[in-house]
Amino acid sequence: MRFLFKDSLVSEKELEYTSKSLKDYLKHLRMVSEKKDYSFDESSINLSFDENLLSEVENLKNKKVNPKLRYIIDIGIGGSNLGAKAVYDALFGYSDLLEPDRYPKIIFADTVDPEILEKIGKLLQQIEDPDELLINAISKSGGTTETIVNLEVILAYLKNKFPEILERLVITTDTGSKMEQVCKQNNIDYLTVPKLVGGRYSVFSAVGLFPLLSAGVDIKSLREGAKMTRDRCLNEDILSNPALISAIVLYLENLKGKVINDNFFFHPELESIGKWYRQLMGESIGKEENLEGLKVNAGITPTVSLGSTDLHSMAQLYFGGPKDKVTTFIYTSSINGNVLVPLEGDFLKLVDGVSGKSVYEVMGAIYEGVKATYRSRQIPFMEVILEDLSEKSLGQFLQFKMIEMMFLGKLLKINSFDQPNVEEYKIATKKILLD
Ligand code: PA5
Repeated sequence: MRFLFKDSLVSEKELEYTSKSLKDYLKHLRMVSEKKDYSFDESSINLSFDENLLSEVENLKNKKVNPKLRYIIDIGIGGSNLGAKAVYDALFGYSDLLEPDRYPKIIFADTVDPEILEKIGKLLQQIEDPDELLINAISKSGGTTETIVNLEVILAYLKNKFPEILERLVITTDTGSKMEQVCKQNNIDYLTVPKLVGGRYSVFSAVGLFPLLSAGVDIKSLREGAKMTRDRCLNEDILSNPALISAIVLYLENLKGKVINDNFFFHPELESIGKWYRQLMGESIGKEENLEGLKVNAGITPTVSLGSTDLHSMAQLYFGGPKDKVTTFIYTSSINGNVLVPLEGDFLKLVDGVSGKSVYEVMGAIYEGVKATYRSRQIPFMEVILEDLSEKSLGQFLQFKMIEMMFLGKLLKINSFDQPNVEEYKIATKKILLD
């Protein structure tokens, strides 16, 4: 993964100056990594090095996954499903419709939607052998309304047909949660998540690893990418540390009024990674109070754009609208599949310069054209160039962004690990349901 920031409009001098305030935090992160345990808010940085976790996930996958498996139903919401969905969609999900015979497929059930649940019910009626199905319900707290409702509705569809359906269920929850107790009482297989690993930082815990491994994702490479990047992002040499630079750029640009961070992915299959990042930034940085308890209403609004699709819907706003954005482009330096535009064709005369070119070359030209326009309009941007769209590259990107967010929280002097205001609506919802 390459990270380029020369177009961020932040100078190396500014970077070096601002990074001084992060020196102690960098030391703290290094200490957390040396301890290897889960006793700190930042402990998620140890997940990809945890061999016990890997064995636990692999053992349960070996017990539950067999050649008959067709559908994994991943029930969870927010931090409990966005990471797995991000990786699955990048590798398989975006093209699931185009590869109808590729199994197993993951079906994500997050919000509660009667029509979707009915369609899931119809699909489940076609299942003849419970081994074709694996249900993974994920809730750190164990008490999220949507997750419990979806789980019980889906189990109800299956209980009569398959009395032993609980054998096809795996729960993932916090160590010591009430959900863990229910599993123990009913002999249901479960995996645990360290309490201090928050949902939005949990993609390399059992929350992400179990469904991904069950769906055939190479989680060892995913972890390998995360490991490499963690070490890079704990490097004291600022200019070799992408998380540190990116956080400082976002922070300094925010001070100059850039209140939006647009994440512009030039591969549509990365859209769900963008949605994962929205939660990471939204929940980590959007805070009413700072660490001293003063009301600050901090926040940078994360948005997701897709190249080249959104150039045909959003470029006008980006180029002509308010100067309130700092952009992060995400692209790859190579790609699988060498599709060529034919040399001849009746319609080719309608667009100059494309015949005989590879489709990747055409996208490359669009990408360079977009960057040139951003430059000429002085719209600040950074670039993340992934080597490819493999598990390893995805692991690098996800780990980079999680550490970036820790640095950004420190710069903004807010707590990047809690979400006190999310609880407000959860409590209000429960009260309405009880009335
Ligand atoms: O980051 C968060 O805390 C939230 O988005 C949660 O992940 C989400 O509300 C789901 O919570 P739980 O995993 O407890 O079901």
